Amino acid sequence: MPELVAYLSCPDIDHSFKKPLSEREIAIAERVKHYYEHGFWVFARIAGTIYACIAAVPSTEEQKVFLSTMAVRNCKRGKKLGNDVYEKAIKLATERYQAKYVIVDSWEGNKEVTLLLTNRGYVPIASYYDKSKRPPGIKTVEYQLELP
Ligand SMILES: CC(C)(COP(=O)(O)OP(=O)(O)OC[C@H]1O[C@@H](n2cnc3c(N)ncnc32)[C@H](O)[C@@H]1OP(=O)(O)O)[C@@H](O)C(=O)NCCC(=O)NCCS
Repeated sequence: MPELVAYLSCPDIDHSFKKPLSEREIAIAERVKHYYEHGFWVFARIAGTIYACIAAVPSTEEQKVFLSTMAVRNCKRGKKLGNDVYEKAIKLATERYQAKYVIVDSWEGNKEVTLLLTNRGYVPIASYYDKSKRPPGIKTVEYQLELP
């Protein structure tokens, strides 16, 4: 767990989120612990260094799973690492929770995630302001996928 906290705290990763994770109401260590205890983390390590991660947690609604905190280090983006941790998380969520619906939230203008999600069949289901998570004027966008 400390390794994941350190990974998410490094400026490269922290500041690729809007708001940065370090400026959210939930501290990074709490975030890591929450998903670890209530769901799971998938991460990719190369030669002892974490380069990508994603978290998953089941919803109280049956067969629904939330994915969160997907991030790849700048130097490894565009090389399918994001796709790899995403695919592994979907596989585990299906096996562990019999997931039928997957929810991911992002923010307006996040081109990479929008393409990643829409190319995989997600549809936007909600869009709203959320002061605790996003900078002023930027909306959260929620996407949903129905698994086959
Ligand atoms: C989103 C993110 C995890 C993608 O990781 P990645 O390893 O670079 O992505 P991959 O190489 O696996 O590509 C997966 C898909 O993402 C999309 N994508 C990735 N980089 C892209 C780019 N520069 N421009 C447009 N789309 C891009 C594409 O759809 C791509 O593949 P596809 O053609 O098969 O759909 C990475 O950009 C990141 O860490 N972003 C900052 C943090 C963030 O926004 N997290 C998500 C919060 S919801």
